[in-house]
Amino acid sequence: MKKSYALNQNTKEKLRPNKKRSLSSQTWLKRQLNDIYVKSAKAEGYASRAAYKLIEINDKYKILKPNSRVIDLGAAPGGWSQVAAKCRPSKLIAVDLLDITPIAGVNAIKGDFTEPQIIQEIRNLLGEEAADVVMSDMAPNTTGSKSLDHLRIMNLVELTFNFATEVLAEGGVMVAKVFQGGTEAKLLAEIKQRFKQVEHFKPPASRKESAEIYLIAKGFKKS
Ligand SMILES: C[S@@+](CC[C@H](N)C(=O)[O-])C[C@H]1O[C@@H](n2cnc3c(N)ncnc32)[C@H](O)[C@@H]1O
Repeated sequence: MKKSYALNQNTKEKLRPNKKRSLSSQTWLKRQLNDIYVKSAKAEGYASRAAYKLIEINDKYKILKPNSRVIDLGAAPGGWSQVAAKCRPSKLIAVDLLDITPIAGVNAIKGDFTEPQIIQEIRNLLGEEAADVVMSDMAPNTTGSKSLDHLRIMNLVELTFNFATEVLAEGGVMVAKVFQGGTEAKLLAEIKQRFKQVEHFKPPASRKESAEIYLIAKGFKKS
């Protein structure tokens, strides 16, 4: 895939004064206006700045290959699916609680991945085929409680891992968003048993102040 992130936009945008904006929304807007990844996403037609995280993960780990079957969990608004679609997969299934931007060649499912019928819908779309990549950028809404948030994201990672072990082909790849502190030790040990190479990676596009990092597991062992 062509590397085309336009990261040379140094011009600072000014925020027009608006007394009705709260301080936090002003800070958010200012950051968005001056974020090079937001600018690049706009210029290159990506639905989200998150697209660059997958581009950077793929640059380093080469996970997206032509003719592969890819499942994108937590896909809305659609940046990761757009990036995956450019790699000419033979099947691309995207799942989210929210609407996903329509993307040519993407089978979108709107629903909760933690619900068995949504998992069944994915399996129906996959048919008899196995998946080559299961990637999750799912993040639950934060509650304000660090320990509760950690438990909720770990639950999503565990469900993603269980699902990946059911659908991945030999040699397949799993990518999952986890938070600071990485993956819980017991779960990480289980993941290491089923994949040849397991690493944590924080792509440069992931904001420094964000606790998110990504678990990259390559070389799935079917048994
Ligand atoms: C950071 S966003 C994903 C951004 C996306 N990768 C992109 O490139 O545009 C996280 C997404 O996870 C979704 N999500 C969280 N929990 C989910 C669940 N249980 N089932 C499906 N989607 C979920 C949210 O709705 C949200 O859209």
